Amino acid sequence: MRFLSDDEDLSVAVLGFGYVGSCIAATLADRGLDVTGIDADPRLVEELENGYNRFQEAELGETMFRAMGAGKLRVTTDTSALGAADVVLITVGTPVLDDGSLADEQLRGACTELATHLRKGQLVVVKSTVPPGTTRRIVLPLLEESGLTGGVDFGLAFTPERLAEGTAMKELRTFPVVAGGLGIESAENVAEFWRRSLGVEVIPLDSMEAAEIVKLADNWWIDLNIALANELAKFCAIHGVDVLDVVAAANSMTKGTGNINILLPSVGVGGSCLTKDPWMVWESAGRHGVDIRTAVAGREVNAGMPEYTAHLAIDTLERLGKDPATATIAVVGLAFKNNTGDLRATPTRAVVEEFRKTGADVRIHDPLVDAEQAAELFDLPLTENIEDAVRDADCIAVLALHRDFEDIDFATLPVNDSCLVLDGRAYYPKATIAALRELGYVYQGIGRGDTPADLGTVA
Ligand SMILES: NC(=O)c1ccc[n+]([C@@H]2O[C@H](COP(=O)([O-])OP(=O)(O)OC[C@H]3O[C@@H](n4cnc5c(N)ncnc54)[C@H](O)[C@@H]3O)[C@@H](O)[C@H]2O)c1
Repeated sequence: MRFLSDDEDLSVAVLGFGYVGSCIAATLADRGLDVTGIDADPRLVEELENGYNRFQEAELGETMFRAMGAGKLRVTTDTSALGAADVVLITVGTPVLDDGSLADEQLRGACTELATHLRKGQLVVVKSTVPPGTTRRIVLPLLEESGLTGGVDFGLAFTPERLAEGTAMKELRTFPVVAGGLGIESAENVAEFWRRSLGVEVIPLDSMEAAEIVKLADNWWIDLNIALANELAKFCAIHGVDVLDVVAAANSMTKGTGNINILLPSVGVGGSCLTKDPWMVWESAGRHGVDIRTAVAGREVNAGMPEYTAHLAIDTLERLGKDPATATIAVVGLAFKNNTGDLRATPTRAVVEEFRKTGADVRIHDPLVDAEQAAELFDLPLTENIEDAVRDADCIAVLALHRDFEDIDFATLPVNDSCLVLDGRAYYPKATIAALRELGYVYQGIGRGDTPADLGTVA
């Protein structure tokens, strides 16, 4: 049986209208498909109905509301819309528990709901990140409670979502889609769906498990690679060497099918994916008696970076003769990375905590994050503007360089003398660092700055 209509006007239901679901739904609707977003959170739906988009993602708001205005996209809590769709995408959250195992309530809830509306000929595509075997062992039996048989009456496939926050909308239109299906028909139909709907390259794999592992392999590699960059930064710091010079030069070498590609060090890794997916690998392998040590190593190194970064600042303040206990520290950029408002697992939280342990007066500012969420997470109010954050500051910690911060005029900021600029993710070029020093600032980056000439000798 074919699980994809030849109809030009394909209809899609996106089950789980969070970060990923909203980006996909908006992109598909923008490309002319008829899309219904379904989410269990009535507040989220109400916000959207009132024209508010809680996800700070470039191009998302305008694309989504344009599609809604054109009647191509609607969002609802009503799951009956599931039965009308040609294709159902599952994009619910898949967090992990403390032991690294999948917290599968959202996935189970979505599948149970879908089973009550499932009909013959539909194609169900799981996009949430899951340990290998989950689509076959959890999703399939729950859907088959409908009385229909997977691969016979309805199609089932796994195609991971590989977008990164901040660049999600562009990546959705360009990244190849990896696809594994339950049987040949599902596999062929899901490949055709993504080619038709997004116009992107599809990489077919032999099984759903292979596609599930691809997503985990991507994030395992990214997290471990960043851990390498972070340790390289610590190594460079011993010698007063700028890690960015080392990374750029090291990456000029060809290896395998591409170049060496060491990523950038930073204040730490956050967000909802990289902080959990390596644990998913570790836990699911462990259940089969295989100990995956690189996943753990990457996690441990990266989880230690906020503390390392905070102490770079605290130590530098002390070397400048300033007592951290009476210092004023402005933390600018709280999201887990540049140009997103996402605070999930943000490493900046642990930095702020370390600063506060010293007794310092800590102020926080980020125009992209939700003020209520930030106040709860940091136990501090956001300052209205950057000037209020940095007034009389002894340290400005730039922990996420959003576009709004790119034009900060350091010359006019009302800071204290010898104010430290702590660069957690700004990657200021050398010319900017030199200009900051000209203005009387002290610069400290991760594996950067702090040369022997700046602050005494480095052995
Ligand atoms: N955020 C990212 O950058 C990213 C990137 C790639 C992959 N992923 C993966 O995509 C998946 C979704 O991530 P996200 O960041 O969008 O999560 P999210 O928490 O932002 O969104 C999940 C949404 O699903 C809804 N939901 C939960 N149970 C439901 C149910 N039974 N019926 C309907 N709606 C339900 C929730 O209300 C929520 O709005 C996860 O598996 C994640 O690992 C995320």
